[in-house]
Amino acid sequence: MKISVIGSGYVGLVTAACFAETGLDVWCMDMDEAKIADLRAGLCPIYEPGLPELLRRNAEEGRLHFSTSLAEVLSGSEAAFIAVGTPEGEDGSADIRYVRNAAHSVGRLMTGDLVVVVKSTVPVGTSAEVENILHEELDLRGADFCVDVASNPEFLKEGHAVNDFMVPDRVIVGAESERARALMAAIYRPFLHSEDCLLIMDRASSELTKYTANAMLATRISFMNDIANLCEKVGASVDMVRMGIGMDRRIGSSFLQAGCGYGGSCFPKDVKALIATAARHGSSLSVLEAVEKVNEAQKKVLFAKISRHFHGALAGRTVAVWGLAFKPGTDDMREAPSLTLIRALLDAGCSVRVFDPVAMEKARALLGHDVFFADDMYDAACGAEALALVTEWEQFRLPDWTRLRDLMQAPVIFDGRNIFGVEETKNAGFTLYRIG
Ligand SMILES: NC(=O)c1ccc[n+]([C@@H]2O[C@H](COP(=O)([O-])OP(=O)(O)OC[C@H]3O[C@@H](n4cnc5c(N)ncnc54)[C@H](O)[C@@H]3O)[C@@H](O)[C@H]2O)c1
Repeated sequence: MKISVIGSGYVGLVTAACFAETGLDVWCMDMDEAKIADLRAGLCPIYEPGLPELLRRNAEEGRLHFSTSLAEVLSGSEAAFIAVGTPEGEDGSADIRYVRNAAHSVGRLMTGDLVVVVKSTVPVGTSAEVENILHEELDLRGADFCVDVASNPEFLKEGHAVNDFMVPDRVIVGAESERARALMAAIYRPFLHSEDCLLIMDRASSELTKYTANAMLATRISFMNDIANLCEKVGASVDMVRMGIGMDRRIGSSFLQAGCGYGGSCFPKDVKALIATAARHGSSLSVLEAVEKVNEAQKKVLFAKISRHFHGALAGRTVAVWGLAFKPGTDDMREAPSLTLIRALLDAGCSVRVFDPVAMEKARALLGHDVFFADDMYDAACGAEALALVTEWEQFRLPDWTRLRDLMQAPVIFDGRNIFGVEETKNAGFTLYRIG
């Protein structure tokens, strides 16, 4: 069976590679010519563990193809997955213009019956709108193809994306025709460890499930950050509180880690988009409004701690930053908390030396010459009066403390992810500030 994937970013590439792995003939399309040229040359445009090997092997074995021509990828396809970006619009709602554009193009170029699958994260009603667009385009052409539209939100986590796709907790499908339901069940069958983990529902519920999942995870993080700030005031340890509640099976231990705020390509924009959806329907999501407010404040917490340590006298000081990507395991810099900290430090007149194991190139595009891009984590700490840990990459967890202390001008650490032990750093001669 031939299927096509429109949009070759984090979601599109993982989707395409994993479907190809099951034996489908997958055609991946993007309008970014440089991206497609890289992919054709065997280069993976993003950092995602396991993905380059999967792309290369399936391309070599003839099951995965890359093209900038939508006509080519659609020709003979039985399903077309739309996996284009849905960034934050000016008013906080999701900007679905790329989805609309893709739908118009599919309607103009499809050459036979097709199931169009909306994989992008889209507000309730978008799949129905995509269906209308497709019918409009087909009517204009006088074409009489059968087109069904399904919603199939993606739940992968960057850094674990291949495994999340291959072994999903659940697959959500919103479909309102038997043909779409049957096709989706058939192509997802290889990934389902039990029949129950394919959940087929109406499209509106499917679209809302995606936003609700991200909103719930963001809520847990902001809630714990709020508690962390209270812990600091009352002399409690948020790590102890986290473990204490995480062992309660009703609560569970995931997404309870306090830190310097969530970022990334999904949580910030999806929380805002869900709030905007509610507002558009005359409703309000007060809990989520607070979640967002707490997160905005939390992204500033490290800077506030650094500033307080130096009694506000920051100009001329050198600060090292370990970790730039919004989380470990990815080079994605979208809405990364590191950017909030670095910009505040620069505004205060600091020199900033940064290091990230994989996101240096993407960070360079955003920060230009404003910061010093170090060769490694120790180079970043050279001459620094403070070190801020923002992204908890494994390689930062057990540094050579003696080497670090000798390199720094002053042994002070601001741990934005609570990865360093209090005793360990104290014994090594460091002053440690944590969250909560
Ligand atoms: N990144 C994640 O972890 C993640 C997880 C789950 C869901 N999502 C959702 O999936 C969607 C895609 O996210 P992403 O991170 O993969 O985005 P991305 O920005 O990495 O990739 C989107 C790609 O679509 C291409 N594109 C845009 N319009 C196009 C068109 N008309 N035709 C062909 N290509 C087009 C862009 O050039 C880009 O390469 C978003 O809605 C996002 O919210 C993302």
